Amino acid sequence: MRILFIGDIVGRPGRYLLRDFLPAIKDEYNIDITIANGENAAHGNGLTKKIVDELYSYGIDILTSGNHIWDKKEVLDFIDQEERLIRPANYPDGVPGKGYTSYKLNDNVVFVVNIMGRVFMSPLDCPFKTIDKIIDECKDISNYIIIDFHGEATSEKIAFGYYVDGRVTAVLGTHTHVQTADYKILPGGTAYITDSGMTGPYDSVIGSDKSAIINKFITGMPSKFDVADGNAQLNAVIIETDNCGKAVSIATLNLTASNLEKKYGVDKDEEL
Ligand SMILES: [Fe+2]
Ligand SMILES: [Fe+2]
Repeated sequence: MRILFIGDIVGRPGRYLLRDFLPAIKDEYNIDITIANGENAAHGNGLTKKIVDELYSYGIDILTSGNHIWDKKEVLDFIDQEERLIRPANYPDGVPGKGYTSYKLNDNVVFVVNIMGRVFMSPLDCPFKTIDKIIDECKDISNYIIIDFHGEATSEKIAFGYYVDGRVTAVLGTHTHVQTADYKILPGGTAYITDSGMTGPYDSVIGSDKSAIINKFITGMPSKFDVADGNAQLNAVIIETDNCGKAVSIATLNLTASNLEKKYGVDKDEEL
C-alpha cells in the first residue's frame, strides 16, 4: 500500500496547488490513499463545508486537523456528519467530531488517527494514554494505522513515535508547517517524521504574509494575519507498507508550484 500524506494545507494557494497537481502526483507515485491536514485550508483558519467538499473533489480521501479545527464556527454544524474529517482524539469526551476514522481500501481497512501534543499547546488528555486506547480498539480489525501527530515540540513527537513503534504504520507530524529532515523507519517498522511541512504559500512565514508577522515580532502588538500569495509549495510524505501494516519506506516531497509545473507540464492557474 502506498500512502500520500500532505502537510497542513494553507489557504487558497495550498488548495489550488492540489487542484492543479494532486491527480498527477497520485498517478506518478501509484498512491492508494491520500490523507491531508486541512486545519488551515479556509484562509489559514479552520475549514468550511464548502472547502471540505472542494478538497475531497481534488482527490483527498481523509482530512485530519489540529488546534485550528474550531476557527470557523460552522464546523460545529457539520463535523459530526463528516466520516472523512477528524479532529485530535485527545479532546475531552463530549467534544464534537471524532478522533479517528476508518477507510476501506479493497480488502483492507486503514485507520487514520489525529492526536495533539501538549507541550507549548493547550492542555488536552494524555496523547500516550489516548493512543493506547485507540490501538486496542483498532488492532483486531486492521494493522494499518496512520497517525497525524499535531504538535509543537520535536521531543514530544519523537517520544510518541518510539512509544507506538511497531504498533502502528506511521506517525506523521504536523502543525509547525516546516518539513523536517528526520524521516525514517523506526526499529519496529513504523514510518516517522517530526513534521510533514506545509502545502501553501512558499514566500511566507509558515503560510502568513511576512510583513504582518515581522511587525508583530517587532511591536509585540496583536495584528491580523493574512495568507500570503504568490508561488505555492507542496510538502508531503509517501509511505510504502508491506502486507502486514508495517512501513517499508518513507520519502519526502518538497516542491513549489513552479517545480510542479515544469515536472508535469500542467498550466498553473492564474489565481495562484
Ligand atoms: Fe497548521
Ligand atoms: Fe496547528
